[in-house]
Amino acid sequence: MLRTHTCGELRAEHEGQTVTVCGWVDTYRDHSGVLFVDLRDRYGKTQVVFAPEAGGELLAAAKLLRGEDVVAVTGTVAGRPEGTVNPKLPTGAIEVRAGQLAVLNKSRTPPFHPTSKDLPGEDIRLKHRYLDLRRPAMQQTLLLRHRIVKVMRDYFDELGFLDVETPMLGRSTPEGARDYLVPSRVQPGTFYALPQSPQLYKQILMIAGYDRYVQIARCFRDEDLRADRQPEFTQLDLEMSFVEADDVMGVIDGLMARLAKEFLGREIALPLPRMTYDEAMERFGHDAPDLRFGMEIVDLTDLAREANFQVFRNAAEGGGRVRGINAKGAADRYSRKLIDELTRFVCEDFGARGLAWFKVGAEGKLASPIAKNFSDDSLARIAGRMEAEPGDLLLMVADRFDVTCKALHALRKRLAAELKLYEPGVMHFSWVVEFPMFERDDETGGWAAMHHPFTAPRPQDAERLGTAPQQCRAQAYDLVINGVEAGGGTIRIHDSTLQSQVFGLLGIDETTARDRFGFLLDALQYGAPPHGGIALGLDRVVTLFGGGESIRDVIAFPKTQRATDMMTGAPGPVDPRQLKELGLSVPR
Ligand code: AMO
Repeated sequence: MLRTHTCGELRAEHEGQTVTVCGWVDTYRDHSGVLFVDLRDRYGKTQVVFAPEAGGELLAAAKLLRGEDVVAVTGTVAGRPEGTVNPKLPTGAIEVRAGQLAVLNKSRTPPFHPTSKDLPGEDIRLKHRYLDLRRPAMQQTLLLRHRIVKVMRDYFDELGFLDVETPMLGRSTPEGARDYLVPSRVQPGTFYALPQSPQLYKQILMIAGYDRYVQIARCFRDEDLRADRQPEFTQLDLEMSFVEADDVMGVIDGLMARLAKEFLGREIALPLPRMTYDEAMERFGHDAPDLRFGMEIVDLTDLAREANFQVFRNAAEGGGRVRGINAKGAADRYSRKLIDELTRFVCEDFGARGLAWFKVGAEGKLASPIAKNFSDDSLARIAGRMEAEPGDLLLMVADRFDVTCKALHALRKRLAAELKLYEPGVMHFSWVVEFPMFERDDETGGWAAMHHPFTAPRPQDAERLGTAPQQCRAQAYDLVINGVEAGGGTIRIHDSTLQSQVFGLLGIDETTARDRFGFLLDALQYGAPPHGGIALGLDRVVTLFGGGESIRDVIAFPKTQRATDMMTGAPGPVDPRQLKELGLSVPR
């Protein structure tokens, strides 16, 4: 080793020892001819002192040091003089009095300093990711990610899960996104698809008798990117045989308890709370409700029918719904102007046609420009239903059920953040279960699988597949943490006839089904055990445990909103020779 200690290692007990430390020059200060240099590596920082007594040559060399130079310093560990001890730094009691300096690599002036308070925009940081990854915060996050994965691997090993790798080059697995395709050179005109998930391989592993499979699996999805979505991301993926939904959820409950204990120092009560999809939509307007705070949605449709207010009446009588939320104590916080802003928000971004509001006055009286359209009685009933108290702000949307869900969910999230309705470090874990099997596909007008086409209906709903698919509920479960879908899984269909029936409902005709999933349909006829599983979004889980905002911050080399790797410049054009070999031509 070129060093005897890391930059985070030296303590008072090392005083008097001769050591060599290596690292990056973090800061340098000249105090009347004595040079103080902080050396940094991923373990911490150590103060190095270049004093005139060590020789003019050494001091002159040290004076040429600049931020991000990589150096090796040999010297003696000494206690810091009285009054200069830094209790905030683990190495703050000591310094290294330099005797020798070797500059291992001189840095050009970097576009930004990793420990500077003013960091540039994300694009610049991603372009120079090697500098960005030197930031202590990034290094802590990648360390956290490593430790979370380690806990996961140990946990599943203890439970007898087998880690099996599945191919990157395969056939398309439908998870609802576009595939990334890889052309075959050997068979021109044909393509592999990068896996959107290992879904079908893990089912095949169950049919092959592996009983309990787990993998930290890379997945690829060509979809619109957001703060919580990357084109390539990582799943903690697992599958189990001879199980029911409760068993899979139980395994994840145990994992969450272990992670909470390890990383939050907290015991969490098990089993984690569950609610059905229908309940989640009613109470929170979303299938991944944020349960760190209340502000539940209240239904007012029946009261709206009796009001004189056309907007409410029309919605209620036209099969729509009138629903609202009570922002407790927020009446004064939201001026007319701010309420107009909330109105624009729900209308422009979430398709609502308006936002009705009332402020609750001193005697509990509801005040609003629309109040005159309601009898006192009717207002009192609305106030009662919404548990209104003086100072509250009531917000309501009258529309189709799905529009009220979207608008009120967005409003709930926004208001909770603005009103600081939850403590920053708090984490809330829960399950949403019994999702519908199908949803309407806006493009085709037909049915689409809400989870994926291999999901089993609840046994009591199987008969409805032929008659009322919209009423079929799936044996599906999503893990929700702080309003984020952290994972999702299902019990699978293990019967080829049922699988064919579901393909049929999804508009996948027999020829296509055989062409794309023939191997699965075949395998299901050679002794398929009942099985089910789940995948957690590892990037999301690490982001949540780290208290961050974007999954880009927990991925060493993430891509931007436009799916670009700013550092390497991928995607980029390729050599025409490569295209020719692949039998491809691209428009210029
Ligand atoms: P699903 O598609 O719900 O299920 O994915 C599982 C979890 O993966 C995470 N996730 C993502 N994370 C980052 N970027 C993305 N683009 C992205 N897409 C999904 C989410 C999600 O909950 N094969 C099934 C699982 C199963 O049924 O066992 C599947 O992939 O946290």
